[in-house]
Amino acid sequence: MDPSHVHESCDGCPAKIVCRCLRVTEAQVVRMIERLELRTVHDLRKYTGAGDGCTCCHEKLEEYLGKHACQIEAVV
Ligand code: FES
Repeated sequence: MDPSHVHESCDGCPAKIVCRCLRVTEAQVVRMIERLELRTVHDLRKYTGAGDGCTCCHEKLEEYLGKHACQIEAVV
């Protein structure tokens, strides 16, 4: 194998698995957050299945929500 095609990290790879238990990819999680305007891990579990196993990916799911979910500004 040509070593120039080997990546040390899978960050940014659309097939990167975020939830190993349910085999849900980063691309699936981001797409569902953006299309369905999901805002909670509970929502992600409901629509993707991600996080429905051992729960160790919940912290990562929260990061994706923080990065990709629409931010609602509080009206005071
Ligand atoms: S890795 Fe997501 S529930 Fe286990």
